[in-house]
Amino acid sequence: MAHPPLPSQLLTIEYYPRPGVIQFDWGHPASALLPLDAMGRAAAEAIGRHGDNTLLYGAAQGPGPLIELLVRRLNAHEGLALTPEHMLITGGASLAIDQICTLLTRPGDAVLVPVPTYHLAVGILRDHPLDLVPVAGDEKGVSVEALAEAVVALRAEGRRPRMVYVIPTFANPTGATMPTERRQALADLARRENLLVVEDDVYRELCYEGSLPPSIYSYAPDGPVLRFANGGMLYSGGGVPHFAAMVVETFFGLDAYDAHLAHVKASYRARRDALLAALATHLPPGCAWSHPQGGYFLWLRLPPGITASALLPVAEQHGVSFLPGNKFGLGHSFDEYARLSFSMLEPDELAEGARRLGQAMRA
Ligand SMILES: Cc1ncc(COP(=O)(O)O)c(C=O)c1O
Repeated sequence: MAHPPLPSQLLTIEYYPRPGVIQFDWGHPASALLPLDAMGRAAAEAIGRHGDNTLLYGAAQGPGPLIELLVRRLNAHEGLALTPEHMLITGGASLAIDQICTLLTRPGDAVLVPVPTYHLAVGILRDHPLDLVPVAGDEKGVSVEALAEAVVALRAEGRRPRMVYVIPTFANPTGATMPTERRQALADLARRENLLVVEDDVYRELCYEGSLPPSIYSYAPDGPVLRFANGGMLYSGGGVPHFAAMVVETFFGLDAYDAHLAHVKASYRARRDALLAALATHLPPGCAWSHPQGGYFLWLRLPPGITASALLPVAEQHGVSFLPGNKFGLGHSFDEYARLSFSMLEPDELAEGARRLGQAMRA
C-alpha cells in the first residue's frame, strides 16, 4: 500500500496540492474550517489552568477531566450508560485500530472486512500477522448473513475468526450507513461467535440530514480499557496524545465544540449538495452515485464500458483526479467505481471538478 511519490522537500502536513488539478482524492478536513482561534485560546487556557500537568506524561487512560466530559456527553447524546471505566483516549482511530490488533489479536487470527473498505485501515491491519478476509458488501454496508456465512466457512477450514472491522456510518469510501437492524444483528452475531467488533465511527458527528441509528456498541457494550491502559506502549509513553487531549477538554469547556460542529456541518453539507448538483448536471448518462447523509465521501459508478483505472489518466489530463475503486477492494474488483471526496473543495471547485470529470468520460 504505497504512498504517492513524495515531493523532494520535507513536508509539514500530509496533504500537498497539485497545481491545476482539482483533487477529489484527499479525504482531509477543509483548512478553512479548522478552529484555529478557539484552539489557540483553549491551549492557552489549558496551560493557565493545569500548568505543568499539560506537559508532563499523561495518565495512560487519558486525562480524567476529558474522560468525564466525554462520558457525560455520550450518555446524554447516545443514550448510553458509560462510566469512566469504559473510556480510553487515543491519538485517533488509526492508533486505536493498531493497538486493538496488537493487544487483542493473536497471529493468524482472521479479520472479516466488508468491502469496499477504508484502504488505509487495511494498511494498519496488514502491519500485523492477521488473516484478512474480505466480505462483499452492498449499498447498506454489509449483510450480516454474509458475515455469518464467512464465519462458518472459516471455521470449517480451521481458521480463527476473531474480529470484524466495520465503518457503519457515512462509510469511507461509499458514504453508506448501516441500518439499525443490521447493527443489532451484527452485535448478536459477535456475541454468538465471540467476535470483536471494531466499529470505526469517525464520521458519526458529521450528519447533514435525518437521524442516525444507534451505534453497534450500544447493542453489545464492552470495555477492554484496562488491557490498553496496562499495555506496554501506554505504560511507557503515557497517555497519547496528552497535550492535545488537555487542549480539547478546555475547548469543550469554552463551549466552542458545539458551535464549531454546527459550523462545519453546514459547510460540509453545502459542499456535498454542490457536488451532487454538479454531478447531475455534468456527468453523462449511465453514471450513478450514492447520496451520503453525512461524512466526506461519495461513491460513483461509472457508465458501462468505462473503468476507473482507464479513466484516471484521462481525468488527470483534464485537470481532475479521484481514487479508483480498486484501492478499497482488498483484492475484490471495484474498477467500475470511483471515490469522490468533497470535504476539501469549495463549492465552485466541486462544480468545476464535476464538469472536468464529465469531459474526461466523454473523451
Ligand atoms: C473510516 C476511517 N477511519 C479512520 C480514519 C483515520 O482516522 P484518524 O485520523 O482518527 O486516525 C479515516 C480517515 O480518513 C477514515 O476514513
